[in-house]
Amino acid sequence: MTARQDGVTVVDHPLVQHKLTQMRRRETPTPEFRRLARELSLLLAYEVTRDIPLDYMDIETPIAPMRAPVVAGRKLCLVSILRAGNGILDGMLDLIPHARVGHVGLYRDPKTLRPVEYYFKVPDALDERLTIVCDPMLATGHTAAAAVQKLKERGADNVKFLCLLAAPEGAKVLREAHPDVPIFTAAIDEKLNEKGYIVPGLGDAGDRIYGTA
Ligand code: URA
Repeated sequence: MTARQDGVTVVDHPLVQHKLTQMRRRETPTPEFRRLARELSLLLAYEVTRDIPLDYMDIETPIAPMRAPVVAGRKLCLVSILRAGNGILDGMLDLIPHARVGHVGLYRDPKTLRPVEYYFKVPDALDERLTIVCDPMLATGHTAAAAVQKLKERGADNVKFLCLLAAPEGAKVLREAHPDVPIFTAAIDEKLNEKGYIVPGLGDAGDRIYGTA
């Protein structure tokens, strides 16, 4: 089950909501948080890849030959916004192992909350691929918008954004900057606080995935 509004899809499947609640809990330890991030992103991947292209190949079942659909994995590019995006990437790759993978390193300047780039490596021919940008938290939206902008400059023209949790402010910033980029998330929370954290949120996703809190 999903709810769609203005380019934002909230995946409200009960398993998605249950796992997100477990991730939110303060007492959830790092190994469990990491496992939940992987499982949750796998479930979200199902929704974000709903319309990916199929190829056809000749196979034989035990009964008869047939021409059967297979995912055109090489046409898909997953882009992780470092470092927390990698926590989503793993679950996505469990489901789509043939996808190409890119990494974008952008950190938030703690004073301005604006993104600063330190790493950018993506596959070629982005114009021939669906590019799914992954970051667990869509907070201010500035990092996401900057990452999408960079990808478009490299030719990406079919981009989707996948996160676990979004703030309304971040969804608005990304949608206004890139109205052609649909957002997929497990929830839209109440607001951002003065430090740029999502409220109630789940804390710092990178710290909780990697145990660096
Ligand atoms: N990044 C996080 O990891 N958590 C937030 O709440 C906001 C940005």
